[in-house]
This record gives sequence, structure tokens and C-alpha cells, in this order.
Amino acid sequence: MRTGIWLIGARGSVAVTAMVGATALRARLVEPDGCVTELPQLRSPALPGWADLTFGGHDIVTTPVLKKADTLAAAGVLPGRLVAALAADLTAIEQDLRPLPAGATQALTAARIAADLRDFRDRHGLDRVVVVNVSTTEPVAEPHPAHASLAALELALTGAEPVLPPSALAAYAAFTAGCAFIDFTPSAGARLPALAELARRAGLPYAGNDGKTGETLVKSVLAPMFALRNLRVRSWSGLNLLGGGDGANLADPGANAAKVSSKQRVLGDALGYQPEGTSRIDYVAEIGDFKTAWDLVTFSGFLGTGMRMEFTWHGCDSALAAPLVLDLARLTAAAHRAGRVGPLPELGFFFKDPLGDGPSALSEQWSILAAFTAGLSPVVTDCDERHPAAPDNGLAGEGQEGTTEVRR
Ligand SMILES: NC(=O)c1ccc[n+]([C@@H]2O[C@H](COP(=O)([O-])OP(=O)(O)OC[C@H]3O[C@@H](n4cnc5c(N)ncnc54)[C@H](O)[C@@H]3O)[C@@H](O)[C@H]2O)c1
Repeated sequence: MRTGIWLIGARGSVAVTAMVGATALRARLVEPDGCVTELPQLRSPALPGWADLTFGGHDIVTTPVLKKADTLAAAGVLPGRLVAALAADLTAIEQDLRPLPAGATQALTAARIAADLRDFRDRHGLDRVVVVNVSTTEPVAEPHPAHASLAALELALTGAEPVLPPSALAAYAAFTAGCAFIDFTPSAGARLPALAELARRAGLPYAGNDGKTGETLVKSVLAPMFALRNLRVRSWSGLNLLGGGDGANLADPGANAAKVSSKQRVLGDALGYQPEGTSRIDYVAEIGDFKTAWDLVTFSGFLGTGMRMEFTWHGCDSALAAPLVLDLARLTAAAHRAGRVGPLPELGFFFKDPLGDGPSALSEQWSILAAFTAGLSPVVTDCDERHPAAPDNGLAGEGQEGTTEVRR
């Protein structure tokens, strides 16, 4: 299944790490550590293989992918030898990266974004394209009456005033171009009734929101433990120190509020009550992409005896996020092919603030994901008949051993 991954924010840290990683996996230069879809329980012939992936995207900056990859290598996020080995492939990806279009109205902007997506799909003969938002986190979106229905939204988009934040406009454009959509950020993305209506009408799946890669990942394992042992969590406070582009943006109070609210949801869901405490994010330029999260949990047990635990997480944010972006794109492409329409709550395993009412405990989310993946048997469509699915097993570059040639 020839699959396009169109990244909104294609020149950022997560996007470039994902492109370097997929290119290296295809060339068999690395092991698929961190890629959940390579675990034996999730490997499936329904998923596109590494050799089936082609990258494109939009951004508002023009930093060359190779230059960004070099910067990430200098910061210790990517191995420098890998970036050097893949330099030609990374430079070639430039041909499929476009500046974010702008029109006189949001309807015109969306039409230009959709035209870029169709052009990408046609030029590469792709069976389907998955659009993934990995752009800068937006402040919480202002409500607007036009968000309530597709008819109202389509009318409002033709006016002079913007009615959608950029992430939701990207989702709108993706759906009009026949592409599935994933929001890896806490931004609005496809989470508006009008966009749910459009996805349903267009027969497309979507997933989100906000990749779960650090402090919240640990919370989604520990909080169910307290609940299962009937230990009462009194307070749970976290401090996240982060540099890089994401950290700089999250220094803005609006974006910070959007992120913090998606980080706290897991506690209320897993415990059944909201303990005292907040999760804070502070910008520390010096530590770049390497995040430190420090959490203090106070709890009480038998006869009210008070206790506490602390944990410290040192994670490389882009190295944790990029494989999940690839997993999500492979799974969502297969869901699209299998005829799934609307939100994909089964992908809640990957997100801090998942769509739908699924469980928040990581182990339960995992079981749901495994069952979902096992059920992704393909429905053959016209475009699949044009490009019959290779009988691959989802492993890296079958038959491509020893080559660094990459189909972008
Ligand atoms: N790294 C993680 O562990 C992690 C986890 C969950 C969510 N996220 C989210 O992923 C996103 C990307 O993180 P990052 O570290 O790559 O950030 P980054 O700052 O390195 O990259 C963001 C990119 O988006 C581009 N951009 C901004 N506005 C845009 C727009 N309207 N259209 C297209 N491109 C636009 C920027 O120019 C930049 O290149 C952030 O929103 C972050 O919160 C990251």
C-alpha cells in the first residue's frame, strides 16, 4: 500500500526525526526500537511497510531538512553518522515540502492546501495520504458558532475573518482532499463538530490528540496502580523543563494552557477523582530537546498513613515522538483502507487526550490497540487495484537489503 505521510510542521524537530528514522529503517541502517507497530503483537500485513512510505509536508519556515537534521545531530537527538549516510535522501525530500499556502479567505487557503495534497498523491501514485499535524501548539481555540455544523462552517470560511485555527483548517483541507488526519499536538485539529461531519461525509478516519511521550506516559502506568491498590492519591504535582522549538512556544501562556490541560486529564480518568496539584511546563533553552519531568505524588493507605513517591524522567522528546508518528500514520492508513470512518478511539494508547471515552490506563489501551490492529483486514478499493498491496509483513524494506535508496 503506497502511503504518503504529509507533515504539517515538516521542518520541525519531530517531523525531521520521523523522516530521518523512516528513511534509515527503510535502508535497514537501524533497528525499529521505539516503533510500537514493530512489536510481534502489532505486526500486520495490513500496515504499509517502511518501503511504502513517501514524505511531504507544509511549514512556515524554510530551513532545509538536511540542515535541521544536522542541528538535531549536533544536539545529540540523531546519530550524526546516520544523517551523513542519508544526506542525499533527505535533500530529495525537499521536492515534496511546500510553504504553507495563504489565500484571501480561509476557503481559498484550504483549497490551496488540498491542491498540494492531491498533487502529492498524484505525482507519486499513492494509494492514500495521511496528514499528520506536528506543527507548533496553538492556544486553546476560540469557540465560534460556525464550528457547530459543516454548512455553517463552509459559509463562514468564505468570509474575510478567520474562523478556524490553522490546525483545524489543515484537517478541513485534508478531508476535502480525501486524506485521513492525525493530530499529534494538543491543538483543535479535527475536534470540531463541523469537521467530524465532514470526515463522516468523506468516509475518512482521524485520530488525536497530543502524543503521549513522557510524564503523561508514566502517569498512565502509575495512576492505575494507585487505583488498583485502593491507595488514595492526595496530590500529584509535576514540573516539566523543556527547551527546543516546542519548549520556546510553550513559554507562551496560551499554548502552555492548552498543553497543561491535556496532561492532567489522565489522573481524573484513572483515579476517578482529581487530586490536588498541577503539571507545569517551564522553558530552559540550554537543555534543548531533552526534557526533564519531576513529579511528586503524596498518597495515603491503610489507617490513613501518609506516604510519597517521586520520579524523574529524562527523555529526548523528538526521539520518543517520531516513532509514534510513524506508527500512527501506518495504523491510520490501514484503518482508512479497511473502511474505518470517523474518530479512531482505539489509538488512545498513543495520546495524552484521546478522542472518545476509552480507558486511560496504558495496559488497557494496549489491549484495545492490539485487537484493533488484528482486525484491520483490508477492503480492496479502486486505488488499491491500481497499486495492489505488496504481500509484505510490515518489516523494513523486504527485498531492499543493503540499499539506501528511498522512495520519497
Ligand atoms: N516531542 C514530543 O514528545 C511531543 C509530544 C506531544 C506533542 N508534541 C507536539 O508536536 C509538535 C511539534 O513539536 P516539535 O518539537 O517538532 O516542535 P518544533 O517547534 O521543532 O516544530 C514545529 C514546526 O511547526 C512549524 N509551524 C508552525 N506553525 C505552522 C503552521 N501553521 N503550518 C505549518 N507549520 C507550522 C514551525 O515552523 C516548526 O518548523 C508540538 O506542537 C508539540 O507540542 C511533541
